Amino acid sequence: MTADIYDLGSSATPWRYFWHPVCTLNELREAKPGGRGPLQSTLLGERIGVAEIGGKVVAFADRCPHRGAALTLGWAEDDGLRCRYHGWCYDTEGRCIEVPALEPDTPIPARAQVTMYDCEVKYDLVWVRLDSRADTSIPEFPAWEDGSQRCIMGEPYLWPCSAGRRVENFIDTTHFPYAHQGTLGAPPNVVFPVFPVDQLPGRLEFETETFLAYNPGDNTYGPPNSPESTFLPPATYVVQMPFTTVLKFTWSETFQTQIYMHPTPIDGETCRSYWFTCHSHDGSADEVHLQLQDMVLGEDLPVVASHLPRRIGEAHEEVSVPTDRSSILWRKWLRELAHAGERGPEELMRCLDTTNIESEVTAPAS
Ligand code: FES
Ligand SMILES: [Fe+2]
Repeated sequence: MTADIYDLGSSATPWRYFWHPVCTLNELREAKPGGRGPLQSTLLGERIGVAEIGGKVVAFADRCPHRGAALTLGWAEDDGLRCRYHGWCYDTEGRCIEVPALEPDTPIPARAQVTMYDCEVKYDLVWVRLDSRADTSIPEFPAWEDGSQRCIMGEPYLWPCSAGRRVENFIDTTHFPYAHQGTLGAPPNVVFPVFPVDQLPGRLEFETETFLAYNPGDNTYGPPNSPESTFLPPATYVVQMPFTTVLKFTWSETFQTQIYMHPTPIDGETCRSYWFTCHSHDGSADEVHLQLQDMVLGEDLPVVASHLPRRIGEAHEEVSVPTDRSSILWRKWLRELAHAGERGPEELMRCLDTTNIESEVTAPAS
């Protein structure tokens, strides 16, 4: 059993301090008749539940303190969450407020308390933080909040790889001519510069120049042209540590696109990615943008699902080169965050604000 080992040999502990989406708002609405859940999910190896009670979306350990049954088998009621087994009912703080089998006025044991987690709805996603002792924030998504672009939520996808593997795939540019041969890239356009990477509080950023690739042709990007055509314009990659990635392309002064993606660690070797494709308001059909992403993801999946191990291992198990710079820096910070998180929330927050990784790291030549 290796699922309790996360990227770079870390435990789940550091990642419990961060916010992760556990379902879409729509999935919660559709989980049960009535539209309030409960819905079962898994986050960092823990079985959790989400429900709307009294107008508030709450997240809880999916275990009834009475006999350990899954509370998500039960019902969300106006004032509480009711267990399907013996009908105990819990309020939004997790306190048991009713034990139907008891005569009225019989005291309810104080230990009849469900573990509740921080929970917020943002960007039509339900975000959960398992450990509230660090002052982390839900990752930013400016295009959604300021309405500057049309943001379309894609169907979340479950991949047999760690969250870290998914992040690295997302910020990797040199796989374009091979994993996306004939779509996002193609030989002979295979040589890439080593892009400088900026480390800012809580985030890594780097910019790519325009590079030669191949335009598959569609309604958005114009008719197909030759493999020598310029397809991918300058791009900005952002990783909000540890796992939220944003990729912005500037096609022209008036047309920009971006992809926002967060792979939620289900366990150490499985992640479920929540994502959006966004574009300047140009009236194009949502399907055009979703289909492009479906194609790209379909090309990535077999490769990413084939990694051994399914999580990121130790440096000596893989060989890096200078053009892997973004992933080398991100791994270094991830490892430092993991170590800091094991020492506690204050150390974790200090590490999240650090800005010295770029100067410390030299990409190995072999
Ligand atoms: S197990 Fe939930 S009420 Fe008994
Ligand atoms: Fe890819």
